[in-house]
Amino acid sequence: MNPPRTLSATRDLLTGRSGRPGRSGRTAEDAPETLRVEAGETVRVSFTVNGRPATVDVAPRVTLSDALRDHLGLTGTHIGCEHGVCGMCTVIVDGDAARACLLLACQLEGAEIMTVEGLGRPDDLHPLQESFGRHHGLQCGFCTPGQLMSAYDLLDHEPGVSREELPEKMSGVLCRCTGYRNIMDAVAEVSEDHPDGVPAPHNCATAALLPRDSVGGRASAAGQDEAEVDQGVAEIRMPATEPTVAIEVDDEVAATPEQIWAVMADTERLARCLPGAELVSDFGDDRYKGRIRVALGPVKLAFVGDIHVVERDGTDRRIVALAQAEDAGGGSVQARVLLTVAPHGDGAVIHAEADLHMTGRIAQFGRSLAGDVSREMFGQFTRAMDATARGEEPVTTAPPSAIAMVTQLTAARLRGVLNRITRRN
Ligand code: FES
Ligand code: FES
Repeated sequence: MNPPRTLSATRDLLTGRSGRPGRSGRTAEDAPETLRVEAGETVRVSFTVNGRPATVDVAPRVTLSDALRDHLGLTGTHIGCEHGVCGMCTVIVDGDAARACLLLACQLEGAEIMTVEGLGRPDDLHPLQESFGRHHGLQCGFCTPGQLMSAYDLLDHEPGVSREELPEKMSGVLCRCTGYRNIMDAVAEVSEDHPDGVPAPHNCATAALLPRDSVGGRASAAGQDEAEVDQGVAEIRMPATEPTVAIEVDDEVAATPEQIWAVMADTERLARCLPGAELVSDFGDDRYKGRIRVALGPVKLAFVGDIHVVERDGTDRRIVALAQAEDAGGGSVQARVLLTVAPHGDGAVIHAEADLHMTGRIAQFGRSLAGDVSREMFGQFTRAMDATARGEEPVTTAPPSAIAMVTQLTAARLRGVLNRITRRN
């Protein structure tokens, strides 16, 4: 795969409302750098999301809404029309409301972006979110992130805007449930309560969005404390029931135990060894937000979830991690993973144990095939750890194709059955 291209580009913001000068200070005269990108190449873009630095490698055609949702796991930004009409995807870019479906991620080098996740936290909602709740300003909730971000932008630029002006000023976001009256009541209350300006967002800059090495470490935030950091990852409790799949794998590798441990001790390097996986956020205290993609033929599953390394013992070279993740189709995986490495001849043996609890489409493979696919993924994982530990070829993080694995495994099983039949005859 070609390495990502880097660029420095500017853009003309497509704001949610017209007739108001933007705050970015960038103009159409700040001509974007021309950059030719071949088909299949990606572009590396660094920006700030909710106060946290983030870097993504994206194809040039990827929109900001897709980059936020698919690359950073920030699914609060909803996508409706993808044509700039409905306003569902409204986010704040450099201080102005913008349609995330009309901006390409590669246009946003250096931008400061705020999404609905930055507005507040479940235990510390922004006044706008409180007000929407009090006034029942949502029915299905699909337009709510866009309404909230549009309302924040309006009250930020025009504090004290009157109730009578709201229908026109808030017309950039459509509500298909037509709950406009309650939405206007909610925004009007915040406007009246805060005539000097809407309060600042409550959930910006409490953790870094990875990869850290390309953005220079965790973001710092005034007043940040450990309790705040912990808000990012839910407590993981493994089900008491029998796992859908239990795996135990021992793989001999050429790298030494010390070399393998150097990879195991670095969670980001370790995550990159699992095909299709990446860390999205580092919340400190060995708690992370991560993502893994698996291709099931035409069906692409993207699991986003929490990881907590609950044990990391450098003496015994042993790690225990808990993980829970969900995909957009309602499937879920919970896992307890144990990894150890021990000397073996001139190299080492990596021992992996995993209990996987699965629901949804991934579980529909059945225990046997899900087990085979999971074991094959662990095999790829240990081979990638070995290569990384010895500084060999770069590890590919392409998502694994479960169908391809299943086909290979089924073919291997058929060959075994045929061999047995042939031997009997
Ligand atoms: S999804 Fe962006 S405006 Fe409709
Ligand atoms: S609450 Fe359903 S679309 Fe607005």
